[in-house]
Amino acid sequence: MAKSIVNRSLLAYINPHGTISEQYRTIRNNIQYASNGNKVRSLVVTSPSEGEGKSTAAVNLAVCIAQRGDRVLIIDANFRNPTLHQIFNVQTSPGLSNVLARQLEFREAVYNTEVEGLDIMPSGQRLFNSTELFDSQAMIDVMDAAASHYDMILLDCPPVLGAPETNALVSKCDGVILLVKSGKTQLELAKEAKRALLFAKANILGVILNKKSV
Ligand SMILES: Nc1ncnc2c1ncn2[C@@H]1O[C@H](COP(=O)(O)OP(=O)(O)OP(=O)(O)O)[C@@H](O)[C@H]1O
Ligand SMILES: [Mg+2]
Repeated sequence: MAKSIVNRSLLAYINPHGTISEQYRTIRNNIQYASNGNKVRSLVVTSPSEGEGKSTAAVNLAVCIAQRGDRVLIIDANFRNPTLHQIFNVQTSPGLSNVLARQLEFREAVYNTEVEGLDIMPSGQRLFNSTELFDSQAMIDVMDAAASHYDMILLDCPPVLGAPETNALVSKCDGVILLVKSGKTQLELAKEAKRALLFAKANILGVILNKKSV
């Protein structure tokens, strides 16, 4: 149960009154409005391709949701490029992979952060059969355990295209946020990602357009 050190990606925590934090709070509120009155308690954050800003958006949304007073867990489900442990300055392991392999109990892979109400489950060691494991009863058990301890669960996922494991997660969550990086993602890729998500029965709540701030 390590405490974290603030990382500069956590703008919503470092500078809660800034414009960017305000925008994350708007997105947080819009997530509820987009769900037709149904309470959203679990969210996949993904994007068509790599490096578009998924993890950055996921952690800042998680901070804003915790700032509202909810108990929040953010899970690093990106074994291809796990980064949440760096942002929150915790170990990579133990983490999700250990729980999925039934080596550890859910609580043993969760770390507190210094953001009040926000906990993190890092990825653990890389899994090469993640599609099968995300599709398994073990993943359902992780989500059930998380739901019994937290008001909101965010999954920081790999991209949609070229990473079949992402689609194994979308049906296990109430909603999906698709992040698209301004100026980089081609419209066709965004459309292809949307088609793939809908095929996997994703409830796409909305799209975040991410624009580099520097
Ligand atoms: N709006 C932004 N302004 C400036 N830098 C940003 C912005 N969004 C993300 N970045 C930076 O871009 C890099 C990639 O962002 P991030 O790790 O969030 O992407 P990702 O989609 O999670 O990548 P991956 O597909 O590898 O998981 C990071 O260094 C992050 O700090
Ligand atoms: Mg990422």
